[in-house]
Amino acid sequence: MLIDIRNLSIYADAPHGEVKILDRVSLQIAEGEIHTLVGESGSGKSLVARAIMGFINPDWRMQADRLWFQGIDLLRLTSKQRRNIIGVDIAMIFQDPTDYLDPNATVLQQLREAILNRDIKASFWQRRKARDEYATNLLIRMGVKNHQQILKSYPFELSEGAAQKVMIATAIAHRPLLLIADEPTTAMEPNTRAQIYRLLAQLHAQYHMSILLITQDFSDLMKETTHLSTIYSGQIMETGSCNELMQTPHHPYTDALGYTSLFRPDRLAPKQRLQTLPELEPNLQHMPIGCRMGPRCPYAKRKCVQRPDMQTIGKREFYCHYPINLPEKKPVAKNQRANNKEQNIL
Ligand SMILES: Nc1ncnc2c1ncn2[C@@H]1O[C@H](COP(=O)(O)OP(=O)(O)OP(=O)(O)O)[C@@H](O)[C@H]1O
Ligand SMILES: [Mg+2]
Repeated sequence: MLIDIRNLSIYADAPHGEVKILDRVSLQIAEGEIHTLVGESGSGKSLVARAIMGFINPDWRMQADRLWFQGIDLLRLTSKQRRNIIGVDIAMIFQDPTDYLDPNATVLQQLREAILNRDIKASFWQRRKARDEYATNLLIRMGVKNHQQILKSYPFELSEGAAQKVMIATAIAHRPLLLIADEPTTAMEPNTRAQIYRLLAQLHAQYHMSILLITQDFSDLMKETTHLSTIYSGQIMETGSCNELMQTPHHPYTDALGYTSLFRPDRLAPKQRLQTLPELEPNLQHMPIGCRMGPRCPYAKRKCVQRPDMQTIGKREFYCHYPINLPEKKPVAKNQRANNKEQNIL
């Protein structure tokens, strides 16, 4: 397993006391897997990414049963050990390349910085030339056409698509094992979006690179996505194979996301649409107890004020007292029988 996160919680200070902004999040990503994390704005997707990268506000308290990368406990690393992994074996690309690229350096200067000696095979006095060739090739591989021009440019001179490709080039310069793509195409033109997703799919195929794709919408799902997790208000709701989750969601939240998705126009049902979630921040004082989806869930009952335990059916995991689309005859998960009985009574 490349990434193995078990029960990761992050506590932040709020005026009225500590708030759990991530609540016992578990997520596993295997080698070569494209795992998409989908949830509305403010659901905690970027926090999960930042926890893996170690970019967490120092005032926050982080707790986890496990936060492993290739069996290495990321919580116990010194900052030097962590630097050897982060940015080399794990890289991240962001929604807005201008947050990431240095406005005062040309693309070539930034790529030179990103390329390590280990990436090129050249003797000491030929390294600079080899590095520049490597930088040019990276851009060519990213599908940048006028690469000579781009190499000389500063970030503000680039189109959004070109800037995003440059950021991806710097992130993948050392062929990381895991690439975290945090809403990499939001607010882009459809053509540019499609190009970026094609590029990610190519990187995955060529280098067997695992990708954690973060998005708000099923419509941004890459068709290569093998695994899917849905997250709501800091709690993972359901995890499993992408096809299974799309076809027979067990968690009402996964189902609701499906309805709002362009990915499944046949299932668009405006009445069932969830309102866009307001940012969590204003609601920090009123974080629902138990399953945080409760107040907006059409299936919620009294029991939902208790956080549901994880239930599993095959490789599918979900956290719901009243799951939907359960297989009729298949064996059900341990707590399931009790739940079903109760559901019949209510
Ligand atoms: N710097 C911060 N200070 C206080 N709270 C924060 C901060 N960053 C995030 N949070 C809290 O964590 C919640 C989740 O934030 P996060 O950025 O992970 O959401 P997200 O799912 O990535 O949303 P988006 O899709 O809009 O990027 C926020 O709604 C907020 O309550
Ligand atoms: Mg985010």
